[in-house]
Amino acid sequence: MARKFFVGGNFKMNGTKESIKAIIKNLNEAQLDPNVEVVIAPSHLYLPIAVDAVTASTVSVAAQNVYAKPNGAHTGEVSVSQLKDLGLKWTITGHSERRAGGESDEDVANKTKAAIDGGLSVIWCCGESLEEREAGNTVAVVEKQLAALAAKVTGDDWKKIVIAYEPIWAIGTGKVATTEQAQEVHAAIRKWLKANVSDAVADETRILYGGSVSAKNSKELAKQADIDGFLVGGASLKPEFVDIINSNQ
Ligand code: PGA
Repeated sequence: MARKFFVGGNFKMNGTKESIKAIIKNLNEAQLDPNVEVVIAPSHLYLPIAVDAVTASTVSVAAQNVYAKPNGAHTGEVSVSQLKDLGLKWTITGHSERRAGGESDEDVANKTKAAIDGGLSVIWCCGESLEEREAGNTVAVVEKQLAALAAKVTGDDWKKIVIAYEPIWAIGTGKVATTEQAQEVHAAIRKWLKANVSDAVADETRILYGGSVSAKNSKELAKQADIDGFLVGGASLKPEFVDIINSNQ
């Protein structure tokens, strides 16, 4: 099955009402490849503004995080049903910047499951630190993260998951993984899905690369057999995001 190219923009804790509207205006007016699914993730505060501002038919809005429990006494958290109430279809889970703040593999899996059960699709992030890569543990780390996810999600849940492989040492550092490094891990993820979930999930699940993706490196990365798109941080705030979206043309 052909996997539809997917480009996510993770705005992180950046932007203002005005700058987010300007980024979205730029996307609305650009010639975006109609064969690419685009999902932008501003911070929670700006989600309603973003939902209202998007008119491009291929662009949707995601949250950067969500809480695993239903509405209730959870000060400072945002629920799946609240995201649904805003009209959102997506959330990111398990970004390494959140894992670094204490989210375990199991917490991330719980959030992912809660989001899917509540009707959202999920960009689920994984990836190794520099230390783990240098110790030769990259694939083992990612497999452990995948195993925690697979312990919670089942069957059709996988249709709602896009995997983002983001080596931590490449995030925000300008140090992009080589096409070979990225392809090698993407292929390992697909192999793991085949062995531990199913052939269909391995074939159909989109695996994004994230970590210093720019208009300069996205075309080469997009050519790799197992790279089905990107999760873009810094460059998603800039006009070059359009070139990254169109890099599979
Ligand atoms: P970056 O961030 O593109 O700024 O490296 C990617 C991410 O954290 O999703």
